[in-house]
Amino acid sequence: MQMKQVLALALSIAAAEATYKGFNYGSTNEDGSYRYKADFVSQFKNAKNLQTTSGFNSARLYTMIQGGTTDSPIEAIEAAIEEEVSLLLGLWTSGGGTTNEIAALKSAISTYGSSFTDLVVGISIGSEDLYRDSVTGQEADDGVGMTPDELVDAIDQVKDAIAGTTLSGASIGHVDTWDAWTNSSNSAVIDAVDWLGFDGYPYFQTTDENTIENAKSLFYQGVDATKGVANGKDVWITETGWPVSGADEGEAVASIANAKKFWDEVGCSIFGNVNTWWYIMQDYGASPSFGIVGETLSTTPLFDLSCSNYTSSSSASVSTATKSAGSSSSVATVTGSPVGRHGNNGTAASGFKSIPAASSTPLIIATATASSSTGSSGSSSGSSSGSSSSGSSSGSSSSSSASASTTAYSGAVGRPAGSIFGAVVAAIALAIAV
Ligand SMILES: *[C@@H]1O[C@H](CO)[C@@H](O)[C@H](O)[C@H]1NC(C)=O
Ligand SMILES: *[C@@H]1O[C@H](CO)[C@@H](O)[C@H](O)[C@H]1NC(C)=O
Ligand SMILES: *[C@@H]1O[C@H](CO)[C@@H](O)[C@H](O)[C@H]1NC(C)=O
Repeated sequence: MQMKQVLALALSIAAAEATYKGFNYGSTNEDGSYRYKADFVSQFKNAKNLQTTSGFNSARLYTMIQGGTTDSPIEAIEAAIEEEVSLLLGLWTSGGGTTNEIAALKSAISTYGSSFTDLVVGISIGSEDLYRDSVTGQEADDGVGMTPDELVDAIDQVKDAIAGTTLSGASIGHVDTWDAWTNSSNSAVIDAVDWLGFDGYPYFQTTDENTIENAKSLFYQGVDATKGVANGKDVWITETGWPVSGADEGEAVASIANAKKFWDEVGCSIFGNVNTWWYIMQDYGASPSFGIVGETLSTTPLFDLSCSNYTSSSSASVSTATKSAGSSSSVATVTGSPVGRHGNNGTAASGFKSIPAASSTPLIIATATASSSTGSSGSSSGSSSGSSSSGSSSGSSSSSSASASTTAYSGAVGRPAGSIFGAVVAAIALAIAV
């Protein structure tokens, strides 16, 4: 091979192995008006230029449909092409929207071609549909959801729709609260996807000891339990965060200081290691508000995002921080309450939150899981999410229980993170080429 080819190959490996980091983006503005291209451009630019950090250049969307249209592609795509932002696409499938969502997706493929499809990290069919259809979601009155069978049908429709297009190789997934994943009634959805999107909010886990001090432990308990049912598939952190303001939830207190602690302890342990879409950059006047820049768009965050005090050794103790008693093959009893969801849907809403996902680069999470725990004190629970900017959040929770069998996970402990691996290969190739 020519040096140039070696270099090109190495760079393509680096790209393929990249780990994504970004935020969730709803489809409306604070006042409920639809976001258009210029709005998304402002959001994406702001994320890339956040002070004290860098690299937040991926966007998770909830719908393929531009607000105000039946099935035209969301203009976030044009903004992403312009700003070179990668995309975790989402189709809002609850409530009968699948057909129009698919039409918008196909239209985007034919309209924008590879300048669009090259940006696609994956496609989520649905968002928290199983949660909303669960006993807990219905008690919380969080809106219409889908049964696992309906969701699998929608997933199959999307697979058929992209077959033969430039997106045919896209990684297909679904995003839900983590206790929906560990609910064995939903296992057909796990079978149907390539990756599982993990939404988890210790803040909302009111049936647990959900102080900020215990938040990292609860977060990783949820990740471990999800990995335990994932059959080796990737778990991406699609929503997580801690509110900067709002009401207390159980023992959880919303504050800027606590949001920073959650960012430092959870965010800094996953950024760059697993694909992560944080909830959220700007949350307008929602309550609770998860926005790290406050209500007004600004590149000045409410707290230092630098992770400069974070040391990776602190992540090694993740699993021991869980309330566990355990042996290595564990059975976690998950009892809990996923909690209030934003009462938003993709077509109407602007805000949503996301959570971290452990993915193809399970450096930290796999480590945590490998030594993991037996769930124990009966706790733990689902996640939930934030509120929408359109002010329709719901923060209620109720309790339910589910049980999950968590298998011992002997994943890629010690395997270099993909991005590091790719970078090393690229560096070696560069040295050879030079
Ligand atoms: C989205 O929410 C709006 C307002 O709550 C509702 O009228 C609409 O039917 C919902 N659409 C879907 C697809 O759920
Ligand atoms: C488990 O999943 C099924 C199917 O989605 C749902 O009907 C049920 O309510 C869920 N159970 C709990 C405790 O959430
Ligand atoms: C790091 O820790 C020091 C000492 O506790 C603190 O003063 C500083 O603000 C922290 N920096 C960040 C970025 O969190």
